[in-house]
Amino acid sequence: MSHEPQRVRVERRPVDEGESRRANGPDWDRYADEYQATHGDFLGDVGFVWGPEGLTETEAGVLGPVEGRDVLEVGSGAGQCSRWIRAQGGRAIGLDLSARQLQHGRRLDDETGIAVPSVLGTATALPFRDETFDIAFSSFGALQFVSDIEVAVAETARVLRPGGRFAFSITHPTRWSFPDDPGEGGLTATQSYWDRTPYVEVDDDSGVVAYVEHHRTLGDWVGLLAGHGFVITDLLEPEWPEGHERVWGGWSALRGRLTPGSAVFGASLRG
Ligand SMILES: C[S@@+](CC[C@H](N)C(=O)[O-])C[C@H]1O[C@@H](n2cnc3c(N)ncnc32)[C@H](O)[C@@H]1O
Repeated sequence: MSHEPQRVRVERRPVDEGESRRANGPDWDRYADEYQATHGDFLGDVGFVWGPEGLTETEAGVLGPVEGRDVLEVGSGAGQCSRWIRAQGGRAIGLDLSARQLQHGRRLDDETGIAVPSVLGTATALPFRDETFDIAFSSFGALQFVSDIEVAVAETARVLRPGGRFAFSITHPTRWSFPDDPGEGGLTATQSYWDRTPYVEVDDDSGVVAYVEHHRTLGDWVGLLAGHGFVITDLLEPEWPEGHERVWGGWSALRGRLTPGSAVFGASLRG
């Protein structure tokens, strides 16, 4: 999980929304150049993958038709997924907490000739009117970085039109029982699946929280979505493809052949 070249110590402890945001915005600003340099080719400048297994939206089809639809990507990074939607005729826009990630989006706009409008912001306060979008999605974007997940899901429901689609990918919740290690060390469960205490990296020198991730169980996600008016239609658990040897953080062929690394939820807002 760590992005940090600086010395950090890892803790599990409660972190509120303000502290999560103050840590993760600057963290993604610092990490953005390396993230795009390392993963940009795999993501594709005009490409939509749901996670390290490489499942594409063309294969998954979890968003439904995108042509002519108003689409919001939350935690859009450099907007590769939104750029793919624009190439399919959808009106996608991005929102991200990191200005540096959005700057990479401007670079890709120039390089590809497909511009994705975007806004700096957070998933818990979407700067849009009610019922603005037909589709909202997040590919490993904001949701696991947010403490106030009830607010983030409520905000998503608010900006969707009745019947709108919501889809998102996250680290598969069962992975939280295991060390974030792509090797043998990541195969042995060391902590409780039901322990929701956030994963926190604290800067050793300053004592400031530098990075936070939040865990919810599969049951938590079902309750969250149902509680905000969504009907769940999909829970994809992409299998690790044969011959796919790419390591991405804690995701690897070794672990991917044995346990699910990503979960992709699809849901529709009640009409
Ligand atoms: C793993 S990256 C994924 C980006 C993009 N979806 C991709 O596939 O490359 C996570 C993104 O979520 C953004 N993020 C983190 N917390 C956020 C929040 N509270 N609101 C909006 N975006 C957030 C980060 O800045 C980062 O760009």
